Amino acid sequence: MRSLPFFCRGEVIRGFGRGSKELGIPTANFPDSVVENLPSDINTGIYYGWACVGNGDVHKMVMSIGWNPYYKNTKKSMETHVIHSFNEDFYGEILSVVMVGYIRPERSYTSLEALIAAINNDIEEAKVKLELPEHLKLRDSNFFTRFSSDLPSTTASSSQTIMNGH
Ligand SMILES: Cc1cc2nc3c(=O)[nH]c(=O)nc-3n(C[C@H](O)[C@H](O)[C@H](O)COP(=O)(O)O)c2cc1C
Repeated sequence: MRSLPFFCRGEVIRGFGRGSKELGIPTANFPDSVVENLPSDINTGIYYGWACVGNGDVHKMVMSIGWNPYYKNTKKSMETHVIHSFNEDFYGEILSVVMVGYIRPERSYTSLEALIAAINNDIEEAKVKLELPEHLKLRDSNFFTRFSSDLPSTTASSSQTIMNGH
């Protein structure tokens, strides 16, 4: 996937709420505008990378892109699980992410337990892979440090364009 690493940001919107309730693995959903702007070579599947809520700290993340075959969703989604314990929900905040690498395709599992186990494996894989020096470098990129929620959104999106030009 030539477009990796891929930088994007957007407001956190409400999903079906199953991540927290059924899986115990909360996910932050991006709006359609972000999903529709993905480059064509970014396939559906599970990715790892870095994420930051508002102007907060940068944390490791795993992301699922697609139709969640276990739940047979009819709309494509981009859902980020930030590997960090937050005290509160952050709906309405700006989530900035850099997708660094691909882990696996989305699958339909025979049980909820199997889906949860697969996601926990993804989290462990992401934690290890992101320690590579070339990945740690992206955590410290200007994309995260330059962003301010006080900036007009046009400024935020033009910095995104610059970063994706690498
Ligand atoms: C790392 C990760 C891996 C995932 N893998 C799958 C998968 O293989 N199959 C699937 O149907 N859903 C997968 N999901 C999506 C979950 O089913 C989804 O996050 C959950 O349904 C919560 O969605 P909601 O926020 O809309 O409620 C994955 C999610 C994450 C964060």
